[in-house]
Amino acid sequence: MRQTDIRRALIRWYERVRRDLPWRRTRDPYAIWISEIMLQQTRVAAVIPYYENFLAAFPDAAALACAPEEQVLAMWAGLGYYSRARNLQKAARTMDGGFPANYESIRDLAGVGEYTAAAISSIAFGLPHAAVDGNVRRVIARLTGSDAGIQPHADSLLDRSDPGRWNQAVMELGATVCLPRDPLCDHCPLAGFCGARREGRQSELPAKRAKPEPVHLTRTLLVIRRRGRVALTPSALVRGFWDLPEPFDTAAPGPVLASFRHTITHRRYTFEVRRAVAKSIPKNLRWFDGETLSEIPLSTIARKALGCLVV
Ligand code: ADE
Repeated sequence: MRQTDIRRALIRWYERVRRDLPWRRTRDPYAIWISEIMLQQTRVAAVIPYYENFLAAFPDAAALACAPEEQVLAMWAGLGYYSRARNLQKAARTMDGGFPANYESIRDLAGVGEYTAAAISSIAFGLPHAAVDGNVRRVIARLTGSDAGIQPHADSLLDRSDPGRWNQAVMELGATVCLPRDPLCDHCPLAGFCGARREGRQSELPAKRAKPEPVHLTRTLLVIRRRGRVALTPSALVRGFWDLPEPFDTAAPGPVLASFRHTITHRRYTFEVRRAVAKSIPKNLRWFDGETLSEIPLSTIARKALGCLVV
């Protein structure tokens, strides 16, 4: 009974407040797959413009499969975690027979884990799989008042009449109401059912997983210009992208022109940008003029550094 009441309360709330997100207007498994991959590690607001541009450029798996990798990476520039883009293309190249239509074969796609397979198979195909990501985990842990057995609880709570809608309703609650700190319990449709709320333990659940300590690093980037062109090196962090070079033997760096911060997972970089002159440049560096710069996949770091110099 309780589960039926929980389902009814959450779905009624979801139908009233759900955000009108572009991937909620389609049942196309390809489009839903793209959205779910982008939404891994990236917030909804940041994903929306990328999702729309990506689908305009690559409207189906065949278009993505035959695109040059450079173009796919360029469309991804700024979203980060570029292995996601490479895996998308790798997976698209296995889709001659159409998009896989069951959980196991979706789970077999490059870059797709249990959570993403459950999200795609439920949203695109209505299959009964409960998707458990960080948001959902928090909702279930608080609702049940326990960190244990999250997946089995999520499985048994799943609304089998519309699993895709159910999964997105739980995600929506986690993203907008059941917040990590200071959850908005007064606005929660499940407040009356919530174990954590009953015991005042919202801030204790779910127990935090130990995060690696952030590491602070300082790096130098060189801006070497010659006849209106700038020297770039293939990125060591993101294959297929170009970066500003770091100091090398024949480079004579000048004073710091600008500095900025950039975080990659738990590494917090401070980049110092210096103008430099160089008698010769290493073989892997190339010269690019201003026009070409706007056409090549330029790393976010190089973009930030060059941006610092222009303004
Ligand atoms: N996060 C992951 N998948 C999502 C979806 N389909 N809608 C909103 N947020 C999400």
